[in-house]
Amino acid sequence: MKILVTGGTGFIGSHTCVELIESGHEVVIVDNLYNSSIEVLDNIEAISGVKPKFYKVDILDRPSLEEVFKENDFDAIIHFAGYKAVGESVSIPLTYYQNNISGSLNIYELMQKYHVDNIVFSSSATVYGDNFEVPFKEEYGQGDTTNPYGTTKKFNEIILTDFARANKDISVVNLRYFNPIGAHPSGLLGEDPEGTPNNLVPYIAKVATGELDHLRVFGDDYDTPDGTGVRDYIHVVDLAKAHLKAVEYATSHKGAEVINVGSGKGYSVLEVLKAYEAACGKKLPYKIYPRREGDIAVCYADTTKAKELLGFEVFRGIEDMCRDSYNYMIRHKK
Ligand code: WQD
Repeated sequence: MKILVTGGTGFIGSHTCVELIESGHEVVIVDNLYNSSIEVLDNIEAISGVKPKFYKVDILDRPSLEEVFKENDFDAIIHFAGYKAVGESVSIPLTYYQNNISGSLNIYELMQKYHVDNIVFSSSATVYGDNFEVPFKEEYGQGDTTNPYGTTKKFNEIILTDFARANKDISVVNLRYFNPIGAHPSGLLGEDPEGTPNNLVPYIAKVATGELDHLRVFGDDYDTPDGTGVRDYIHVVDLAKAHLKAVEYATSHKGAEVINVGSGKGYSVLEVLKAYEAACGKKLPYKIYPRREGDIAVCYADTTKAKELLGFEVFRGIEDMCRDSYNYMIRHKK
């Protein structure tokens, strides 16, 4: 298949491109390089043997985006491109709605115009909000999101579901990711955000390399075994493989589906820290801080549907995630 990957040089996008290429698919990337770099293309080539065709195009630039659709006859789209910082989305909501909603609508309208029938959308477990009991099941629907980033994910799922409902040829898979971490085992692809990371593992990684002094543990008084927040971490390579299965599912089914992609297991902040200490072979300092606003105590997936519909299961555990993250960090330490 010829697959358009928007945001294909990003963290999850780049790993997905590798999996798609290694399974014999042709990949075309559209990315504005806002939060990624052009060298990712060489690293995808170093791993997979193929350098994907690349367009430096912003999804808000409709004319340039249309040129991409004119020049290529796509079988499917995997849509990752979007802003993803929760805190930032609270400060600049309109920028998030403009990019993640208007930009996505450009993709969907061009899909319709150029008869591309299949799409996999990069959604998030954040759409469950804090309304439901764990494990989160797809049948719960959507909860009350607590920030504009989450709301853009929620709206995109709704838009795509309506789109599929109105067009019998359209197939949509909304993948709800839990907490993707880790890196490619080659050390060539991974996640190293600019500035101070918001997410747990990128933060711990910078404590491990000495760039940050200690981990701030946000709350130790949750109703969890050790009092710290529990999340469902999934290795980015497993997550990438889920996209391969989802895009293959989309092309052989019609209608819209929502599917969780997680491991189904929860680890606390202190358990993740311990696993990272084992991976890097040293003690990592931490201090307890107040709870972070908007955080829930426990979040993990019911993975039944992913297994039933996609035949998807995770193969990599927390040790693999921490080892691969650290391996990437030490290779990229400036
Ligand atoms: C995990 C746990 C924190 C940082 C977010 C988004 C979600 C998503 C993935 C994105 C929590 C604790 C964290 C730190 C800490 N999608 N923590 N110290 O909040 O589950 O999910 O990222 O694209 O939409 O909301 O992930 O990694 O930020 O936090 O103690 O410095 O680690 O309180 O319990 P979260 P996270």
